[in-house]
Amino acid sequence: MDSLDHRTASVPETLTKLAYRTMQQGKSLMGLAHKEATSRLMGLLAPEGVPRTEPLPDGVLNNLRQSMDRLTEQDWREAEQGLYPTSLLFDAPWLDWATRYPLLWLDLPQTWRRRQERNVRDLPSTVNSEAYPDYYLQNFHHQTDGYLSDHSAALYDLGVEILFNGTADPMRRRILRPLRRGLEAFATRPASALRVLDVAAGTGRTLRQLRGALPQAQLVGLDLSSAYLRQANRWLSQLPGELPQLVQGNAEAMPFADGCFQAVTCVFLFHELPAEARQNVISEAFRLLEPGGVLVLADSVQLQDSPEFKVVMNNFRRIFHEPYYRDYLSDSIETRLSQAGFAAIAAESHFMTRIWSARKPA
Ligand SMILES: C[S@@+](CC[C@H](N)C(=O)[O-])C[C@H]1O[C@@H](n2cnc3c(N)ncnc32)[C@H](O)[C@@H]1O
Repeated sequence: MDSLDHRTASVPETLTKLAYRTMQQGKSLMGLAHKEATSRLMGLLAPEGVPRTEPLPDGVLNNLRQSMDRLTEQDWREAEQGLYPTSLLFDAPWLDWATRYPLLWLDLPQTWRRRQERNVRDLPSTVNSEAYPDYYLQNFHHQTDGYLSDHSAALYDLGVEILFNGTADPMRRRILRPLRRGLEAFATRPASALRVLDVAAGTGRTLRQLRGALPQAQLVGLDLSSAYLRQANRWLSQLPGELPQLVQGNAEAMPFADGCFQAVTCVFLFHELPAEARQNVISEAFRLLEPGGVLVLADSVQLQDSPEFKVVMNNFRRIFHEPYYRDYLSDSIETRLSQAGFAAIAAESHFMTRIWSARKPA
């Protein structure tokens, strides 16, 4: 009877795993097909002088594929272990993305023009430039309106999904293990008393992962872009449970009291900051954490830990406007963390993302 129970219980699990793998392969194929189609169209229609990518050697492609498979495998395993529900693996607004997809194509000519003209300050005239740091007032990724419009916010998630061939959320979820481990320091408190801040929350994809792993915790998201926060609010209000609180502000000087969070996360921000701002954000996270609290960062892999992907990193820099990426690639985040006072600093890489975790000494 026992073994029969075991067999029947494992069938749905096996099917779910198969569905997850198939979905990831589908997303990867869609990402590759989109890139191939846009690069052909570019060959036909884009003006001279638009920077192109360097072809990836076979060895690098194989490494990328294997690394992506390992990521998918780990994502599944950690869901199976109960770090987050398996339903989170399938959490994607497909219909919504499908309706937005044509807008990505319609946006291409403007993107090419900005790339060709090296025009990186093409922002809406309504933007109050005094309200933002100068480094922020740029067309990151050459995207229309930078981070400063509802149009940009509507296309962001889909663009990232395509860029990473469907692995953006699996990479974001790699913060969850070190985060949950870090929160064990507060295990005697009720889960609903824990406060977790997601810095540079953008359109809220990381907050969705956090809500999956920490259904009771109080979640707060901060970002400089109110347009991105509006989009986050639309997505997050569909989730069960308490709505995360969304706050507009600069991560270098956040409007919260000292020591009021038990955990701080920050995903895909650091490569878009000048070095000094990176340090300021780390110091702010330190200030906001209660002693014993945990900081978990996720951002691009770097030259030192992933030299085999140097050509991929260079391509990213070549075709997307990422003014601080070159400096970021050789920046020691570990040194910055310890300069701010953090201890127990650890780092690991998953596909194209590096995860750092650190503790504020108790
Ligand atoms: C690449 S996106 C990452 C968004 C999100 N964390 C994710 O995983 O998709 C970078 C985000 O950082 C925000 N940002 C950039 N500089 C900032 C700053 N100084 N303070 C707060 N947010 C900032 C942008 O508005 C944007 O939403």
